[in-house]
Amino acid sequence: MKKLKRDELCWCKSGKHYGDCHMAFDKKLDVFQKKFHKVPPRSIIKNEEQLQGMRESSKINVAVLDYVAEHIHAGMTTEEIDQMVYEKTTAMGGIPAPLNYEGFPKSVCTSINNEVCHGIPSNDIILADGDIINVDCSTILNGYFSDSSRMFCIGNVSEENQKLVRVAKECVELGLAQVKPWGHLGDVAHAINEHAKANGYTVVRDVGGHGIGLEFHETPFVSYVIKKGTGMVMAPGMVFTIEPMINAGTCEIYVDDDNGWTIYTDDDKMSAQWEIMVLVTEDGYEVMSW
Ligand code: MF3
Ligand code: CO
Repeated sequence: MKKLKRDELCWCKSGKHYGDCHMAFDKKLDVFQKKFHKVPPRSIIKNEEQLQGMRESSKINVAVLDYVAEHIHAGMTTEEIDQMVYEKTTAMGGIPAPLNYEGFPKSVCTSINNEVCHGIPSNDIILADGDIINVDCSTILNGYFSDSSRMFCIGNVSEENQKLVRVAKECVELGLAQVKPWGHLGDVAHAINEHAKANGYTVVRDVGGHGIGLEFHETPFVSYVIKKGTGMVMAPGMVFTIEPMINAGTCEIYVDDDNGWTIYTDDDKMSAQWEIMVLVTEDGYEVMSW
């Protein structure tokens, strides 16, 4: 990579001089790299204009999930959730990111009970009293992506399943508390995995979070089972999702043979997931979508 002089324009396309923009940042990352830490590539460091675009996209994503939260109820089909998401997203000027993404047929993922993620909305799936369901929304606005998901408890959910839903949310909160510049993604993973284990649960290894912004899924892959102090260094301007899948039983999973998407727990036990999209800032984090 060409070394920029301080009065040249910065590589982040902010329009600012390198010396007033990412020069100190690059020095800092160099130190980590020399010690063989994994550092973020420039392509995933967002400038202020891009972040603004992602905030606008996130506003729609949050509004759509709020809308689902108001209307979800026992007796409705997951197809109806899909319609709500499509209508609300497009009414606000956005595009549902899952629709036609690598062949995904719907606007949202709805994963119920023993489904871990990537459940496909269907007329045949009717929400019943006692179900727990993850609704995973993602939006594109002006080319900028946002992504977050929430759990919903339908009617009277057993204490046992309510606990799983609660602990899965706590895992995200504890992971988030570890987000700070020059920390490691492994710090986030460690906090999540320890809390899951302490409650007798497991964390899915084969599916994880991801960078996001100009694309739906950018580098890095965000694992929640790596060690503290390992994994990519978190740097200001990085945006990624925290979305651990917490299983009541085994962490092993399998993919639906027929549709190629839906992921289930291997032992048919329950799974819960919350997802937030987080920006690493100069002094901590900003939650963009939740
Ligand atoms: N929202 C999911 C995620 O968190 C993406 C699912 S891809 C889809 O990464 F095609 F299934 F929507
Ligand atoms: Co995601």
